[in-house]
Amino acid sequence: MNQKHIAIFASGNGSNALNIIKHFQGNPAVKVAFVLANSSKAKVISSAEELGVKTIVCTNQEAENETYFTSLCIENKIDFIILAGFLRKIPASLIKAYPEKIVNIHPALLPKYGGKGMYGMNVHEAVALNNESETGITIHFVNEEFDKGRIIAQFSVALSPKDNAAIIQSKVQQLEHKYFANIIEKIVTS
Ligand code: GRF
Repeated sequence: MNQKHIAIFASGNGSNALNIIKHFQGNPAVKVAFVLANSSKAKVISSAEELGVKTIVCTNQEAENETYFTSLCIENKIDFIILAGFLRKIPASLIKAYPEKIVNIHPALLPKYGGKGMYGMNVHEAVALNNESETGITIHFVNEEFDKGRIIAQFSVALSPKDNAAIIQSKVQQLEHKYFANIIEKIVTS
């Protein structure tokens, strides 16, 4: 069997990263080869370690180096890279080395609420401010244009006028945990 190796890049809590790790435990077709974070304080590092997954913490200097991520992924024989709340810029060399093999999750229905500054609570606050009747998640490939790579799947959830940013965040997180790992499995094994 040709086992696929995935790397997960995350910067924060890593609830999605953990969900993905658990999803593939016991599935010999897919191995989470490592979780990378750009800070040793990121909760995702200790949580991944508890689940027995290799972790890598990169320095700011490494994250800004044009070839660091690419060499790391090639050395580890990575087939797909999953961005789950990774807040550093993805260098062009990595995108070139992994065309349509880098998958990101965005916590809104792109092209709405994407682009510069649209991450984390900023997204949900903007959605609340505009009294949107729905929001959702977008799972997409990463290309050179920020938040504009080919969309793989979108899932939406209805909002009520009284939903604040925190409630919207929790509704979006439920969608992420329900769908992201399943979509990754489809992409990686197809
Ligand atoms: C998620 O909302 C994801 O859509 C976004 O960053 C957040 C990461 O959350 N890209 P977590 O660290 O996985 O809990």
